[in-house]
Amino acid sequence: MTGAEYEKAYLREKQLRKQAEQLLEDRSRELYLSNEQLQEANRALQEQQRAMVQSEKMASLGVLAAGVAHEINNPLGFICSNFSSLVEGLQDIQRFLQQADQQISGGDTLEQVRDGWRQGLMTFDIDYLLSDYQNLALETIEGLERVKQIVADLKSFTRQDGGRKSAVDVNDCLRAALNILNNQTKYHARVETSYGELPEIQGYFGKLNQVFVNLIANANQAVDENGLIRVASRAGDGWVEVEVSDNGHGIAAEHMQYLFTPFFTTKPVGKGTGLGLSISHNAVQDHGGEILVDSEPGQGTTFTVRLPADGA
Ligand SMILES: Nc1ncnc2c1ncn2[C@@H]1O[C@H](COP(=O)(O)OP(=O)(O)OP(=O)(O)O)[C@@H](O)[C@H]1O
Ligand SMILES: [Mg+2]
Repeated sequence: MTGAEYEKAYLREKQLRKQAEQLLEDRSRELYLSNEQLQEANRALQEQQRAMVQSEKMASLGVLAAGVAHEINNPLGFICSNFSSLVEGLQDIQRFLQQADQQISGGDTLEQVRDGWRQGLMTFDIDYLLSDYQNLALETIEGLERVKQIVADLKSFTRQDGGRKSAVDVNDCLRAALNILNNQTKYHARVETSYGELPEIQGYFGKLNQVFVNLIANANQAVDENGLIRVASRAGDGWVEVEVSDNGHGIAAEHMQYLFTPFFTTKPVGKGTGLGLSISHNAVQDHGGEILVDSEPGQGTTFTVRLPADGA
């Protein structure tokens, strides 16, 4: 190779290398940019998912609120009607007393007053009024207690537990969940409960409440008119276990692996969003626990929530 040829070859090689370097730099920049875009898209997706989870919570809260309004309306209805009866009765008692008072101050003889008193007792049916009063009062107290309980359960459902775990009686949590859903289950399924003796665990009452509400709502949606839902709790070796089982349609084998995936649902549009189990799974994980599922298509399903007794 002559010197001129050598130099030419050298320049060409240099040129090629420069081109290759430029190409590499361009590619790196492109890669960097598309990586940025991916990260941005990922952030947007996460934000969207968070918003959807939030709106799902609001939606199910809306359904619950409607149910709860209905539940409260019932006792309120008879409390109001009881009070109208009480007011009417009270007016009769007032008239009866006024009549007796007029006789006494009008100078009637003792005999006349006694006759008037007896007559009045019959005319105004005072015996009946008094015994009816007692029944109405007891019924009203019962209705008010029911409203009080509903409000307490609703409070526990929406309770923000804050950042700290506290002592939770899992049985109380189950009772509150069943009360909240009472309006949905009572026309649809028989609910059997068996509460074991449990140690208190360290946890978030509100989150666990949501888990049980989700599981029981699913069971209720899976059963037909002869539905049976069983809710049982027990304490075992370092664990507290809750079982929610139903004799509903069961879960197809090919669906099992997707149950806890966000947005997986087999329910018609508007009925299910597919977030119940995924939210529940996260909540149970926050407690260091696990959810197990066992299902026989056509026979029924059992979900088991296991929570460490020390709330680790
Ligand atoms: N007890 C059950 N019996 C039969 N199938 C169930 C049961 N529990 C859950 N599944 C199945 O798992 C799917 C996911 O349940 P998940 O609670 O996550 O969502 P969803 O009930 O469909 O909707 P959402 O809970 O958001 O209203 C359900 O659509 C259903 O197919
Ligand atoms: Mg559900």
